[in-house]
Amino acid sequence: MRAILCPHYGSADVLELREVPAPVPGPRDVLVRVVATTVTSGDWRVRSGKFPEGFGWIAKLAVGWSGPRQPILGTELSGVVESVGAKVTRFAVGDAVIGFPGAAMGAHAELRVFPEDGLLVPKPANLTFGDAAAILFGGTTALDVFRRAKLKAGERVLINGAAGGVGSAAVQLAKQLGAHVTAVCSTANVAFVEALGADRVIDYRTHDFATDPDRYDLVVDIAGTAPYARSKTVLTPTGRLALVLATLWDNLGALWVGLTTKHRVIAGPVDVRREDLERLAELAVEGSYAPVVEQRFAFERIADAHRVVDTGHKRGAVVVTLGARASER
Ligand SMILES: NC(=O)c1ccc[n+]([C@@H]2O[C@H](COP(=O)([O-])OP(=O)(O)OC[C@H]3O[C@@H](n4cnc5c(N)ncnc54)[C@H](OP(=O)(O)O)[C@@H]3O)[C@@H](O)[C@H]2O)c1
Repeated sequence: MRAILCPHYGSADVLELREVPAPVPGPRDVLVRVVATTVTSGDWRVRSGKFPEGFGWIAKLAVGWSGPRQPILGTELSGVVESVGAKVTRFAVGDAVIGFPGAAMGAHAELRVFPEDGLLVPKPANLTFGDAAAILFGGTTALDVFRRAKLKAGERVLINGAAGGVGSAAVQLAKQLGAHVTAVCSTANVAFVEALGADRVIDYRTHDFATDPDRYDLVVDIAGTAPYARSKTVLTPTGRLALVLATLWDNLGALWVGLTTKHRVIAGPVDVRREDLERLAELAVEGSYAPVVEQRFAFERIADAHRVVDTGHKRGAVVVTLGARASER
């Protein structure tokens, strides 16, 4: 099969399109032919080797010292079941699916194997393969954050970094949960974030939310610019701060905040469950959660997709398509 390989850390120029052996499914596995995938901030991190401050050596021990141990990147995909193992009952050949390899990656290839009880669910029938590939990375992160932060209807949430892959999902899903949403983004994205459903939008280029009189039950920092030291003034007395992007020191400080104040800081890697994929697919069918796709690239041009992600200012997702079926439902 063809796959995009990242043999060592570096710019988008390190990526190589190569022929590699196809994965062989076991008796309880499902082999998926990929129709569309995305390049996410997760792919950018693993390709570039740029990890949050303080995490460099820890991340490289986990991911690979001089380059990723898993050289095929790609955290999410849509596709069609190509074959199933003898003991598989949940899926059949020809099923349209969406899958989330997440940190295990491997979606930037023509074929990807999933255990049948893994992070693989039917594709929402109303979405094209191209759009369906874009609902999982941001969506699973946002669902996990809101679960851990116990976000309830009627609460006030501030989302810092609202225009990107995680932020555009978080705005929609917080609204769906019944929260009042204040979104923080740059001038160019104000109208875009309003259209996602935010009740109020703050342009960080002209206004500092931390100097506002408004208070929030939950602040979600996706941009990495609202650590506890900055956010504490806008939290309600028992408010929570969820750090999607944070330094090692801010992660360690989370424990201290919990011990010494009535606030709570939630940090650490995202825990993704199969039920989250099912929920996102369900919400997409209902129309209360929509994919946000900034640009689309053919598989052979994946390096250009990485270059868009490298800017750190993408809107929603950047989709990569493998063949004509990407525009089919
Ligand atoms: N903890 C975890 O397990 C986990 C999971 C997923 C993602 N992450 C991390 O979360 C971060 C964001 O991911 P993503 O996929 O959303 O990235 P993304 O799609 O590249 O979006 C980043 C967004 O940040 C915004 N931004 C940049 N500077 C900002 C600032 N000073 N204030 C407010 N917003 C700002 C940009 O919007 P503007 O153009 O409007 O500035 C952009 O839309 C990444 O670093 C990723 O590694 C962590």
